[in-house]
Amino acid sequence: MKRDFVDLEDFDAVQIEQLLTLATELKTALHDGRAEPLLAGRSLAMIFQKPSLRTRVSFEMAMYQLGGHALYLSPDEIRLGERESTPDVARVLSRYVDAIMARVFAHSDVEQLAKWASVPVINGLSDYSHPCQAMADLLTILEKLGTLRDVRLTYLGDGNNVLHSLLVGGALMGMHVVGATPPDYRPQAETVARAERLAEQSGGSIRLMEDPVEAIREADILYTDTWTSMGQEEETQRRNSAFPPFQINEELVAQGPSIAGVMHCLPAHRGQEITDSVADGPLSWLFDQAENRLHAQKAILVYVRED
Ligand code: CP
Ligand code: NVA
Repeated sequence: MKRDFVDLEDFDAVQIEQLLTLATELKTALHDGRAEPLLAGRSLAMIFQKPSLRTRVSFEMAMYQLGGHALYLSPDEIRLGERESTPDVARVLSRYVDAIMARVFAHSDVEQLAKWASVPVINGLSDYSHPCQAMADLLTILEKLGTLRDVRLTYLGDGNNVLHSLLVGGALMGMHVVGATPPDYRPQAETVARAERLAEQSGGSIRLMEDPVEAIREADILYTDTWTSMGQEEETQRRNSAFPPFQINEELVAQGPSIAGVMHCLPAHRGQEITDSVADGPLSWLFDQAENRLHAQKAILVYVRED
C-alpha cells in the first residue's frame, strides 16, 4: 500500500520516533558532507493554493539534496477543483511524478488527492493541520531538550492548523501540551478529544485554558503563530482585538520561570503575536525550527518513497 503523510493521527509513536531518528541521521549526514542521493531520479510535484517561503524552499532543497527533482505548481497554475477536478489532478500527476506535496485551503482537498493519487501525498498545510511543521517542531524540541517525554509546551493564540498538529504530535510523544486561546478561538473539539485519548496512552496530557499567564507558569516551551491564518484575512480586525493578551513579550516570558525556548512556525507578525525582543532574544528557537523543516521533510520524503 502506498504511504501518504496527511495527518499525524495516521501514525503511532514508534513511527514518529523512527521519522525523527531518520531526520537526525539525514541532518548529520548533510552537515558531515556525506549525504546520499536517496531519491535519485525521483520527482515531487508541489501544489500551492497559498503562499509559502519555508515549505516551498525546504521541500525543493530537500529533493535537490536527495538527488531528485521538485516541480513548483503555483496557485494560478492548476486551480484545484476549478480548472480541473481534484481527483483528475491526482490521477494525472500520478502518471508523471513519484510523489505529490500539496498546500491547500480545504483539508478535504488533500484527503481527496491522497485518495485518488496512485503516488504518495504529503500535506504541506491545510486549513485544518500542518503535520510537516509539527515534525520539524518535534525534531527541534528533541535536539534542544534531549527528549520529548514530559516536556511542557504552551501554545498561545489561535486554535488553528498549527495547534491541531502540535496537540496530536505532542500527545503521541508523551508531552504535556497546553493550548491557551480566547474562548472563540479554541481548537476543534474532536481533535482535542483525539489528542486527549492519545495522551492517556502515552503518559502525556492536553489542557485548554484562557488565561495566558496561568498557561505559561509551568511551561518549558512557549509557542505561537499568526492570529490570522491564510484565507482568514477579512477577519483580521476582529482577531486583532481578541488576541493581544496572548502576545509573547518579555513581560509574559518573565512570568514563566522554567521557559527554555520560544517557538513560532513563521512567518511572524512582529509586534502582534510576538515581539522583536523575544523573537530575536536568547530564548528564540525560531530559525533552528525553520531549518528543521528541511531535515524533517527529507525523512518524510524518504519514508513515503515507493520502491
Ligand atoms: N511555517 C511555514 O509553513 O511557512 P511557509 O508558509 O512560509 O511555508
Ligand atoms: N496558521 C498559519 C500557518 C502558516 C505557516 C496559516 O495557516 O496561515
